[in-house]
Amino acid sequence: MTKRFKGIALLLVVMMFATLAAACSNNGTSGSGGSVSVGIVLPTKDEPRWVQDEQRFKDALSGTKYNTEILFSQGSSAKEKENVETLLNKGIKVLIICPQDGDAAAAAVEEAKKDGVTVISYDRLITNTDAVDYYVTFDSLAVGAAQGQYLIDHSKGSGQPLYLYAGAATDNNAFLFFQGAWEVLQPKIADGTFKIANSSEAEKLKDTKDLTRDQMSSIIGQVTTNWDPNEAKNKAQTHLTAAAADMKGDVVILAPNDGTSRSIADVFGSDSAITSYVITGQDAEQASIQYIIDGKQSMTVFKDVRTLVKDAMGMAVEVLDGKTPETTGSYNNGSADIKAKQTDVIVVDKENVKKELIDSEYYKASDFTGL
Ligand code: GAL
Repeated sequence: MTKRFKGIALLLVVMMFATLAAACSNNGTSGSGGSVSVGIVLPTKDEPRWVQDEQRFKDALSGTKYNTEILFSQGSSAKEKENVETLLNKGIKVLIICPQDGDAAAAAVEEAKKDGVTVISYDRLITNTDAVDYYVTFDSLAVGAAQGQYLIDHSKGSGQPLYLYAGAATDNNAFLFFQGAWEVLQPKIADGTFKIANSSEAEKLKDTKDLTRDQMSSIIGQVTTNWDPNEAKNKAQTHLTAAAADMKGDVVILAPNDGTSRSIADVFGSDSAITSYVITGQDAEQASIQYIIDGKQSMTVFKDVRTLVKDAMGMAVEVLDGKTPETTGSYNNGSADIKAKQTDVIVVDKENVKKELIDSEYYKASDFTGL
């Protein structure tokens, strides 16, 4: 190699590293430098569900021409607002945001709207503001209905104890999941198939099929997990300690998502007075798929995040291209009807886990044992 050639080669290597370093400095960014056109804000890395979404966004974004950036709010509405401001300063045109707290996120998206940004509420609806343009979501009522129906389909005889748990009251979805489940469970409580084991508020409302938001709040207030597996575990322990013998034996448990389901299942599974339990879940988290294979969790509701990501990014690109995105209906958020695109969900248990999650390439068979 001549000296001059070596020099050029070295320069090229330095330039390559400089480009790489620039590309990497934008945390979670894809695209080729410059300003950011789509900002994505997700609630927390502490729940596997949102780490799934991050990965699926990254997969969908590799190779696109749009610059995007993903920021996490780590369970804090203040951090969420700061994230939105950071992205606004980078010149985003579209904001895809899954709120930590539906009401509290209103202020952040109002700021974005003022800047002329199109706001897409992602998975969870931002409530009580008209500063939301679109909502991309799964059918959350159907999630709850599927959970309730699973308990009914797997019930044994009559008078079975029913333990209720719910998500965080700051998450509009928690109400939709609960409502969906209650609508199918309530007639089975009324006809004596199930008896409520752990909520005096639910017991009071056992003859009411269509609950108001306030009525749901009173039940959720008692049985919330706050989406926190530890809180779920503590509540389950308290409930079982307080339960009389006739509230044990063969029981059914409405658990709102996979993280809480696994910790509640662990508590029920280690109580010798519990003969058997059927427990629901949601999100098809990898750890819960293993629980289902092992017979420790009964079912999950599979929400194919690939579809949600595709819909949200598809919408964002249409907005960037000056088109009007297609929607399938609307959701009232307390202030306005928000145009929505909704995706169906799939019930998964031991019977179809391989077909739905492995054959569809959502997970690899090697991620599990005993399949
Ligand atoms: C909900 C979401 C669920 C679940 C939960 C806990 O809003 O729709 O899929 O992940 O949050 O994070």
